[in-house]
Amino acid sequence: MKILIVGSGGREHALAWKCSLSPKVEKIYCAPGNAGIAQLAELVPLKPDQFDELADFAASNEIDLTIIGMDDPLAGGIVDVFEARGLRVFGPRKRAAILEASKAFSKDLMKKYGIPTASYETFTKLEEAKEYLKKLGKFPVVLKASGLALGKGVLICEDLESALAGADAIMGEKKFGQAGDEMVVEEFLTGREVSVLTFVDGRHLKEMSSAQDYKRAGDGDTGLNTGGMGNISPNPGYTEEIRKVCQETIFQPTVDAMRQEGREFKGVIFFGLMLTEDGPKVLEYNCRFGDPEAQVVLPRMENDLIDVIEACIDGTLDQVELRFRKEICVCVVLASGGYPSSYEKGKEIHGLGAFNDKTDRFCFHAGTTEKDGKIVTNGGRVLGIAALGKDLEEARAKAYEAAGWVGFEGKYYRHDIAL
Ligand code: AMP
Ligand code: GLY
Repeated sequence: MKILIVGSGGREHALAWKCSLSPKVEKIYCAPGNAGIAQLAELVPLKPDQFDELADFAASNEIDLTIIGMDDPLAGGIVDVFEARGLRVFGPRKRAAILEASKAFSKDLMKKYGIPTASYETFTKLEEAKEYLKKLGKFPVVLKASGLALGKGVLICEDLESALAGADAIMGEKKFGQAGDEMVVEEFLTGREVSVLTFVDGRHLKEMSSAQDYKRAGDGDTGLNTGGMGNISPNPGYTEEIRKVCQETIFQPTVDAMRQEGREFKGVIFFGLMLTEDGPKVLEYNCRFGDPEAQVVLPRMENDLIDVIEACIDGTLDQVELRFRKEICVCVVLASGGYPSSYEKGKEIHGLGAFNDKTDRFCFHAGTTEKDGKIVTNGGRVLGIAALGKDLEEARAKAYEAAGWVGFEGKYYRHDIAL
């Protein structure tokens, strides 16, 4: 098979690596990819929003399967464009990708179908949102730009003053662009956070494995929210008992609700959950693999990824049994100094060769490119260093050891992943 992967981050590198292990795969292309993906795939200089050009490429190169890694093209309807041309593609159609693309939609869906989530109100007018906040009297409160905002459109406000300023930033100043045309004001939940990645074929859902994301930029969960600074899989707090509750009250009910709404979902649903005292509640839905969740979940997956994806597309996922290695996987993200605010690019990366021939340590490229024959930084999150170990301590020690193998100017990372 010839595979095309759309995206350029650590998640897409992990997907390309996992595809490369399949005996069915003869050739991988990635658009636009990065310097790490280039070691496994031929890079195609097309942007993820060039749907027609990507479909042209898939048709003329006889691509058997296209895998969409990122949320933006899914929300924009890339799957619909491919399907209309008879091309085989993995991911939700536009009507289903709204599950992530509109938090207002997903909150209303959960309310309608009784899926546990934080209580909320949605607003399209700034003044109405502010009036509501003034009467609320309960803080902290959570403000969310409804649309896609690179995982950064959520503000947790400790008091009325900061909530009013937050509403101004989201809806007035449009700090997160059009994502802030609509805003969700949500009850603040406390508990342990769990990410659960699942495959969905429209009707059936199969759980991959759980993970724990470290979203804040600094040690001890300080600093700004990021796309994710590290991850562990499985999540130590996700017990079998909690899992049963999630399956009954959240996972299958979400798949059924989408079908009921005429928005059949095929692809990956990533459930962002909070384990509260009143049981698990949904914080958010994502309609794709997480980044860096993919970097800790895929190294543990024993199945051939292509088989599972084909079962999703064909609606036969019920016949698949997903298997995961018992080992723990820990990923530490190496970022450019200054991320998630401003940072410099183009710094040479040293030491990448240390990962050659290692089967228990992985260096997934997130933001890298090649310049004058050298691999240089090209994004906020630069590399995801992942390691497998027999327990959390071993996986953590191996990941941090490997994080020391590579260097670039301004490299920074959290020291407390998996601690
Ligand atoms: P989201 O993009 O909706 O997952 O939000 C990003 C992060 O904000 C989550 O991972 C949580 O850490 C935090 N968050 C979101 N919603 C809530 C909530 N209702 N209560 C507490 N924290 C939240
Ligand atoms: N790591 C969180 C995300 O991919 O949205």
